[in-house]
Amino acid sequence: MSGSTYGKVFTISTFGESHGKAVGVVVDGVTPGVELGEQDIQKDLDRRRPGQSSVTTPRREADAVHIMSGVFEGKTTGTPVMMIVYNENQRSKDYDDIKDLFRPGHADYTYSVKYDNRDYRGSGRASGRETIGRVAAGAVAKKLLAAKGIKILASTKNIGGVRAEKYCPDEIEKNIVRTADPDAAPQMIDLIHKSIEVENSIGGIVECRISGVPAGVGEPVFDKLDAELAKAALSIGGVKAIEFGAGFAAAKMTGKEHSDEMDSTGFKSNNAGGIIGGISNGNEIVFRIAVKPTSSISRPQNTIDLNGREVVCETRGRHDPCLCPRIVPVLEAMSAIVLIDLIKQNAALQY
Ligand SMILES: Cc1cc2nc3c(=O)[nH]c(=O)nc-3n(C[C@H](O)[C@H](O)[C@H](O)COP(=O)(O)O)c2cc1C
Repeated sequence: MSGSTYGKVFTISTFGESHGKAVGVVVDGVTPGVELGEQDIQKDLDRRRPGQSSVTTPRREADAVHIMSGVFEGKTTGTPVMMIVYNENQRSKDYDDIKDLFRPGHADYTYSVKYDNRDYRGSGRASGRETIGRVAAGAVAKKLLAAKGIKILASTKNIGGVRAEKYCPDEIEKNIVRTADPDAAPQMIDLIHKSIEVENSIGGIVECRISGVPAGVGEPVFDKLDAELAKAALSIGGVKAIEFGAGFAAAKMTGKEHSDEMDSTGFKSNNAGGIIGGISNGNEIVFRIAVKPTSSISRPQNTIDLNGREVVCETRGRHDPCLCPRIVPVLEAMSAIVLIDLIKQNAALQY
């Protein structure tokens, strides 16, 4: 069945493959009368684009967005907003060697089994490039949320075991790994450079914090706010786990420690991560995702080809040694899309 559309009231449908003509998104359910220009979208796409630093893929691409519909005289009309980015710097020849084999860790094998064919160039639809549409739609969602005082900030919490201990939000965009701890940034960068030297990759953790969400957002029981955020985060390529608030540490806590007690000023802690019973409680929403080490590495790896023969695979092409810095804007975008959709659903309930 189709799986390229997300949302019930604010809906997004992404389209395109890595080496096709273009990638993009159709967004429906956008509030009319909101000022929207390509510059609103481009600034987030620039945070996602390849070739931005020594810790991302060296592939250079402008990823310039074109708004094709849904905006008239600089304002949204309430009709579908279609946004497109043309693919420009593709080197499909880099992928000739892998067209008959399955690269370990990639979706090559599963796409082949499911569809009986696959666009092997740049991972086709399973490419990180698909997230361009998400980031573009997320920029629209962020704009609507900002008008309600809701702010979403993601940052790199951990790379290869180097942990961000401090949280200085103003620092996030000042370092190339996008961590909120300026002291941890050099060590994180060093680890990524070292993994490039040995033709390997490295994983990490990205944290997302959302402030200004009023209590009451989330639709129990199947469309709980945490369930929807989890689905959205896990739909990003390379994301393998998620935890809210105290998360997995809850397993070692007692009820007295974990329960967020209240006094007349509100909650005294935030172990729930701002969500109880699938509904926002007015606290900051906090969650973290585990990002796997990038599968494309230059080192030889064992696999099989289309005929089941054992072969050695060496991945050429230009890849990200660590996905975290580029997943930061993607996670913000997906969180914004989830939130605006649930806020609009909540408004419909109250009508
Ligand atoms: C922005 C972004 C860039 C990515 N770049 C790469 C890459 O260069 N090489 C790679 O192996 N995977 C990359 N990925 C991850 C793959 O898309 C993902 O691992 C693959 O589709 C398999 O899906 P899974 O890891 O979620 O199971 C990227 C993901 C994102 C979100």
